[in-house]
Amino acid sequence: MARVVESGRFILGPEVERFEAAVCARLGVRHAIAVSSGSDALVCALHALDVGPEHEVITTPFSFFATVEAILRVGARPRFVDVCEDTLELDPEQVDSALSERTRAILGVELYGEPGRVERLAEVAARHGLPLVEDAAQAFGARFRGRAVGSFGALGCFSFQPTKPLGAFGDAGMVVASDDGLAERCRQIRSHGATAKHRHALIGGNYRMDALQAAILNVKLPQLEEYLRLRAHHALAYDQELRELDGLTTPRRVNDSTPSYSVYTVRVRDGRRNELAKALDAAGIDTAIHYPVPLHRQPALLDRGLGLPAGSLPVVEGAAEEVLAVPIYPELAVADRRRITGVVRRFFGHH
Ligand SMILES: Cc1ncc(COP(=O)(O)O)c(C=O)c1O
Repeated sequence: MARVVESGRFILGPEVERFEAAVCARLGVRHAIAVSSGSDALVCALHALDVGPEHEVITTPFSFFATVEAILRVGARPRFVDVCEDTLELDPEQVDSALSERTRAILGVELYGEPGRVERLAEVAARHGLPLVEDAAQAFGARFRGRAVGSFGALGCFSFQPTKPLGAFGDAGMVVASDDGLAERCRQIRSHGATAKHRHALIGGNYRMDALQAAILNVKLPQLEEYLRLRAHHALAYDQELRELDGLTTPRRVNDSTPSYSVYTVRVRDGRRNELAKALDAAGIDTAIHYPVPLHRQPALLDRGLGLPAGSLPVVEGAAEEVLAVPIYPELAVADRRRITGVVRRFFGHH
């Protein structure tokens, strides 16, 4: 940070380039374009693929709003496909039902950092000649069959928002690509579509990463393996300590998948989710719901005629009523984790 302050280069510059090179090496991709946030990474990616007002993008209804917002920000129309019951990712087997002559791309999400369906989704996209964009905002460092998440799609988008597996001290994001032309377009879009100083070939935006964030991320990236190891350790311990509770389901694990465990979400049946959240809150334990309202039921979509009636996507709508995330982060103390699982077990009548 002192080096950045000394240099006076506060936006892009050598720290950012060093971070981009390190991410390329780490993920095994040819290009990394450092941007201002995960949200802007998605806009940059869709814009680079020329997705615009006459197009549709097939996407998941179970994500943070930024996923669908990116489609709307480039003027395109989302087409929602229900999620898989196990990993809650966009169901690749239902993509065909949403295809039309306007379909321009598929935007999938490795929800909670679980990439169990990404390879299959990439196969389906390739079969239809459509680019896959991975919203891997929650999944930096996750792998499927040893291959880095973000590298399955034509473009992969990451967030380094502070709670993510690799967190900056503020907002930051990344687009990764293996295609030279797409990467170049992303670079231009990141800086107002400029191809040279005062030459604007495209209408992009200001999606640049701050050098201070890159300096922090350059220090943290070498520790990612350790952060991921600790997250996995906590996740597997939660799996053990919470399994066999009647009324609660721990996350279903998928063969060949190495998640980033950015969120640990259980499913609480019988309409008791909010009651359990209250019991945890009373014990001073924070929980979160990712996400209580599926994207096809958000007012911003319904108001534009882009939503769907309640009941249209039963798997996601069921999950939205049941999911509850409990604390997971590398520094979580084992004693605190046991206290959390103790409260949950007692709630279900176990001791
Ligand atoms: C799935 C998903 N997509 C996109 C984003 C947006 O990332 P950011 O907060 O860096 O803009 C997030 C996280 O916040 C996310 O979880």
